[in-house]
Amino acid sequence: MVELVLVQRFEGFAEDVFGPVVKGNTQKVNGKDVTFFFCKDSPPPWFDGSILGDFGFDPLRLGSDPELLKWFAQAELIHSKWAMLVVSGILIPEWLESLGHKIVVVEADGNYVQPFAVPDLDIYSGESYSVLLIADQNPKENYWVSLSVRGRLPKTPQALTVLNYITNHASKVPSTPPPVAPLWNNYTHSKAFSNKIFALIGSQKPPILARRRISLLNTQNKINDYTKWAINNISLVLPSTPYLGSIKYGLTHNSLDYKQPPETFPIDYDIMVPAKNPNATHGSGVYTFRQNHVIDIVLQNSNALKANESEIHPWHLHGHDFWVLGYGEGRFDERNVKDLNLKNPPLRNTAVIYPYGWTVLRFVADNPGVWAFHCHIEPHLHMGMGVIFAIDVHKVGNVPRQALACGLTANMFFENKP
Ligand code: CU
Repeated sequence: MVELVLVQRFEGFAEDVFGPVVKGNTQKVNGKDVTFFFCKDSPPPWFDGSILGDFGFDPLRLGSDPELLKWFAQAELIHSKWAMLVVSGILIPEWLESLGHKIVVVEADGNYVQPFAVPDLDIYSGESYSVLLIADQNPKENYWVSLSVRGRLPKTPQALTVLNYITNHASKVPSTPPPVAPLWNNYTHSKAFSNKIFALIGSQKPPILARRRISLLNTQNKINDYTKWAINNISLVLPSTPYLGSIKYGLTHNSLDYKQPPETFPIDYDIMVPAKNPNATHGSGVYTFRQNHVIDIVLQNSNALKANESEIHPWHLHGHDFWVLGYGEGRFDERNVKDLNLKNPPLRNTAVIYPYGWTVLRFVADNPGVWAFHCHIEPHLHMGMGVIFAIDVHKVGNVPRQALACGLTANMFFENKP
C-alpha cells in the first residue's frame, strides 16, 4: 500500500492562518518524539506519529474515533495532493513522473481509454486522467514524484512530493535523486504520449461522415499595440449580454456581432513564419449548428509574432465530448483525411495542438445551448483565443434568471436595472 504525501510547502499560508509555524517542531506525544509541521499548539492525544499525514492539527476533533481517523488521514493526503495538481494545471501544462514506477492510464476526460503503461504523463490545462500506479518497487524506500512545466521555459524549480510505502514514515527522504523532467520543449516526448491514447475497445465510434468542417487558424496578433490571439483573424471579446439570453430572446442585433465568423482561412497563409500583417479584429460572433449535425473541427497552429516561435494550446469544448481523429505536422490538407482515425479515436473534451501542427476533432452537436470552445490556458482565452458555438438555442428551457443578470437581458428581466 502506498500514499502520496504533500511535502511541506505551506509554511507562509499556515503562518497567516494559524500563527507562527515552528519548523521541525518536535514534541513528546505518548512518549514518542513527533515532528509537527503546521501548528505550534499541542496536538490532540490521537496524533502520536503512527499515521501518515500526522500534522498535529485537528481543531474539530474529527479524528478522535480511531477507526475514522485512518480514513480521514488517507483522504486528506490524497485530496491535498490532487487539489494542488489541479490548481497548477489550470494555468500551465504539466509533466508528472514517479521514479521507477509504471503508470497505467485508464481514463481521459471522463472516458475510458485502452489501458497503456508509461513512466510519466504530459497533462495539459483542462485535461484529466485516471491512472493506476503500480507500487512494485522496494517497499523499504520512499520515492519522489516530480511535476514540471511543459511548453514554456520554466521559471520555477520542479515541484516534488513523496510516494510513501507504508510502513516507512512519510517524512523518510527518498534515497534516489528526484527524476529529471524532459526539456520543456521536447515535443517529441509529448506527442509520443498523445499518440498512445485510443478509445477502450468496444467504445462508441464516431460517425463516418461529417456534415460540415470548420477550420480554425490560431494566430498571435497585435490590436492597438496589445498582444492578442485570434481565430481566423478574429480575437474573441465576450459581450456584456450573455449569449444564451441574446440568442434565445432575439436580441442579437443589438447585443453582439452576430455575423457567422469565417469557417476557414486564406489558402496562401504561411503557418511557418510570422504573419506579414499581424493586425486582427475583435469579434463576438457565433458558429450556429443544428442539433445532431456532425461537425469536424480542424485546429491549425501557426508561427506566433516572433520568428521560430509557435506555442502549444489545449483546446477545450463545453457541453460536448469530441473524438480526436488525429494530429499532424504543418498545414492540414485533404491528403491528411485518409490518415484520420475513425476506428478507435479517444472521446475527450480537451485536445492539444502542437507547435506548427494541426489536430482534427469530430463531434455530434447534440446538446442545445451556447458553448465556449477555447484554449484552456486561461490568459490565452482572455487574449481572445476562443470561439462560441450555438446549437438550437430555442430548445433550451427556462434560463435561470441569475444567468441573465448582465447587459440587455438585465434590463429585460430585472426590476433593479443596472
Ligand atoms: Cu493557448
